[in-house]
Amino acid sequence: MAQNIVWHNTTVTKKDRQELNGHKSGILWFTGLSASGKSTLANVLEKELHTRGLRTYLLDGDNIRHGINKDLGFSPEDRTENIRRIGEVAKLFVDAGALVLTAFISPYQADRQLARSLVDEGEFIEIYVKCSIETCEQRDPKGLYKKAKNGEIPQFTGISSPYEEPEKPELIVENDKQTLQQSVEQIITYLEEKGFI
Ligand code: ADX
Repeated sequence: MAQNIVWHNTTVTKKDRQELNGHKSGILWFTGLSASGKSTLANVLEKELHTRGLRTYLLDGDNIRHGINKDLGFSPEDRTENIRRIGEVAKLFVDAGALVLTAFISPYQADRQLARSLVDEGEFIEIYVKCSIETCEQRDPKGLYKKAKNGEIPQFTGISSPYEEPEKPELIVENDKQTLQQSVEQIITYLEEKGFI
């Protein structure tokens, strides 16, 4: 733990950046099982928001694990550190005035709560991408469920590692019961109601 460090307030503030961008900033935190559709949904939504002129950025599990988090695996401790770092990075984007979308399994309630606690009230929108494990297993786009069931991948979420369902998410997207477009519209409507758009 570093000592003798003092917080500096910047001259240009979060509010200044939000005003320049013309919209509020915040985190759209997608959580759900592997293959539940988080990345696909976040990508389509980001495109929609970008087209509407909003400043956006998407942080995606598989990509982030190629870079800033490439030293982390899938033990409970590593997943916690993965989410802690993402929470901190997302907070910087909020400070920069952007709408940041994050797509990580983020299986632990306490880790998501920590990410929530880093930003102001109303800036953290938890979106539970709900999809039955059976459907995720059927989709299995990367063949990982098959491998996990054969014992080739240890600690695989939903098979040999837990997924704690969000208790009070801002939104639940029933991804195996509605179309992608319906899911996008559901989130857009929420953002309109909350004054982001
Ligand atoms: S998290 O649990 O720490 O939030 P994260 O979203 O970053 O996970 O990464 C999940 C992705 O890593 C999955 O979509 C999958 O492609 C891959 N993966 C590899 N091993 C595992 C595992 N043991 N459990 C879950 N996902 C895994």
